[in-house]
Amino acid sequence: MLRRLHPEQPESFSFTPDNHAWAEAQISKYPAGRQASAVIPLLWRAQEQEGWLSRPAIEEIGRMLDMAYIRVLEVATFYFMFQLQPVGSLAHVQVCGTTSCMICGAEDLIAVCREKIAPKAHQLSGDGRFSWEEVECLGACANAPMVQIGKDYYEDLTTESFGALLDRFAAGEVPLPGPQSGRFAAEPAGGATSLVPEEGESAAHNASVTLARDIGDTIRRIDGTEVPLLTPWRKGNTADAQPPRNRDDLMPPSSPAQAPTPGPRSSEGKPADETGVTEQAAEAVEMGRPKNGQAAQSAPHVSEPARLGAPREGRPDDLQRITGIDAGIEGLLHEMGIYHYEQIAEWGPAEIAWVDAHLEGAGGRASRDDWTGQAQALRDGQTES
Ligand code: FES
Repeated sequence: MLRRLHPEQPESFSFTPDNHAWAEAQISKYPAGRQASAVIPLLWRAQEQEGWLSRPAIEEIGRMLDMAYIRVLEVATFYFMFQLQPVGSLAHVQVCGTTSCMICGAEDLIAVCREKIAPKAHQLSGDGRFSWEEVECLGACANAPMVQIGKDYYEDLTTESFGALLDRFAAGEVPLPGPQSGRFAAEPAGGATSLVPEEGESAAHNASVTLARDIGDTIRRIDGTEVPLLTPWRKGNTADAQPPRNRDDLMPPSSPAQAPTPGPRSSEGKPADETGVTEQAAEAVEMGRPKNGQAAQSAPHVSEPARLGAPREGRPDDLQRITGIDAGIEGLLHEMGIYHYEQIAEWGPAEIAWVDAHLEGAGGRASRDDWTGQAQALRDGQTES
């Protein structure tokens, strides 16, 4: 099937302010130079906002991610979940036509779509409010046949119940999603035989239906205000914040005056008790690996390096000149109180082990990239100049 841009295109596209903030947050999850990794989430959000993907939307996302337009177009045309033509202004109906649903009556549901919406898939209904298509398995096979309308699943359908659903949407209602047969979820038609509710425990709807009802976004175009934007990896939600590198990034920021206070850390290499045996060594002994003494002796020595409360004269060295340190890692080093080549140049194996253990997103780089040797060269260059 050829998937091309629609011949009629809007003049422009822009994310709503909330969707734009959401998109920026997605981009911030990836390291500098890897923003293209956010292409699918951004295309999806553009489609959720507009209903389909227009050329201006694809180009805008290309600009946001510093990608060639053709690269974004390749992604948009490859995945069938992206609609490349306008869909119904009220609802786009996706009928699962895969085995379970087909056996249970999907073709009859498609006949309802042809009759009530449009004769062909991807055609708009006469009033432009509905469109439909057949899709592959949506993963609700135990509730076949089923359709997806907007964001939600309508399951256990018959031609009658499906036709009635479409009539209710056309009348301005948003029927509750989920099984339309009276089933709670995907339990046997005759009722649950295991995992039955405790006495007095009951819920009106299953969790998916409850969430859909509470958020109310089944057929809403998504503008970013539906749920709060949570970006715990961006301290203070500032634009230049970095994605999480370790568990500290999930903790509230400390004030600049505070000394760095690393949070919970891996116990790798740290003595578990006064015997000096590390937890890993103790585990190894239990599993019949190296003997106690050997394991304890081979445990790496770890020592905290010299740290500063602030860079000297307020001017940190450019640590990104060291191979293996990017902007994110440099930020983490600053949080640890490491600002200068001179500090890194002094590290021995124990200090390097400490730093590697505290850079969980980039553990091993300090030793692998020989930061100490690089820092010594940079420090010596400073001294000579
Ligand atoms: S076959 Fe229809 S949801 Fe799986």
